[in-house]
Amino acid sequence: MPVLPKAELHVHIEGTLEPELAFTLAERNGITLPHPTIDDLRAAYSFTDLQSFLDLYYSLTDVLRTEQDFTDLAEAYLTRAAAQGVRHAEIFFDPQAHTTRGISLDTVLNGLGAALDTSEQHHGISTALILCFLRDRPATEALNTLRQARPHLDRITAVGLDSAEAGHPPEKFTHVFDAARDLGLRCVAHAGEEGPASYIWQALNLLKVDRIDHGIRCLEDPDLVAHLAATQTPLTVCPFSNVRLRAVQNLADHPLPALMDAGLLVTVNSDDPAYFGGYIHDNYQGLRQHLGLDETALRRLARNSFTASFLPTQRRDALIAELDTHPAH
Ligand code: HPA
Ligand code: ZN
Repeated sequence: MPVLPKAELHVHIEGTLEPELAFTLAERNGITLPHPTIDDLRAAYSFTDLQSFLDLYYSLTDVLRTEQDFTDLAEAYLTRAAAQGVRHAEIFFDPQAHTTRGISLDTVLNGLGAALDTSEQHHGISTALILCFLRDRPATEALNTLRQARPHLDRITAVGLDSAEAGHPPEKFTHVFDAARDLGLRCVAHAGEEGPASYIWQALNLLKVDRIDHGIRCLEDPDLVAHLAATQTPLTVCPFSNVRLRAVQNLADHPLPALMDAGLLVTVNSDDPAYFGGYIHDNYQGLRQHLGLDETALRRLARNSFTASFLPTQRRDALIAELDTHPAH
């Protein structure tokens, strides 16, 4: 199966921290991890739901301390992404996961920026950054984070909303997203991963998002599916993530074909690839193996990824042309 050129629109940079790099950074920073060996750490990558994953994800962010740590993290992701056909990446980061433990936004953004600034040249991957607010923390803290980000807006394309979804509806962040939009930022939000279809409606109507991250539970509301199809609002679906976090039992049961059949603008992404068993091309391959998606369907997903991106028209069209002339084998 060819490694198709594609955009990745839903990847958390903190979720690309491979166990090997976690140990390297822990050693460099004089930190003792709760897991004595890499194998022990890998064995902990078994999750029952979103929260059980987030507990480990946030605990491992502690190894990220210096600008160089963030540069190394992003550089490792970009290297792997390039091998998986990624030509453009819109990358989430969680400032509050760092500022709340005393790491400044400057450190995070200078570190990530050093890797992203050379990405097109070194890896052929154009990039954008999406600043995510943690929805299980107060909206006032999100607003404060947005204020801290103001001097860095040249590095930030959009805001997003992530972390524990159930019980934390988008409506809580309406004024934060209004403020972000006033600053010229695009808006996305995780919705309908573990939360109900009503959270997707809220993300659309109150947060006025350009895309929905995950969104698979839209299928519980036919009016919502019809609306998403009519507006061609993109969904950034993450199949491996849904299986590992048990939103879906097996890849063979994944609703992605139903979403495509309903005429939605579906994209496929890796979410937290170090934790969920694979990067973006691995997800595409999984869909072929377990859901029988043929090359035409996979090419449509790759094309959708460019259509749904925040890329300027010229590069977007160039990448679509590259995909369309990419050989089948
Ligand atoms: N869902 C919600 N929040 C997250 C995720 C996710 O899959 N990954 C990192 N933060
Ligand atoms: Zn996510």
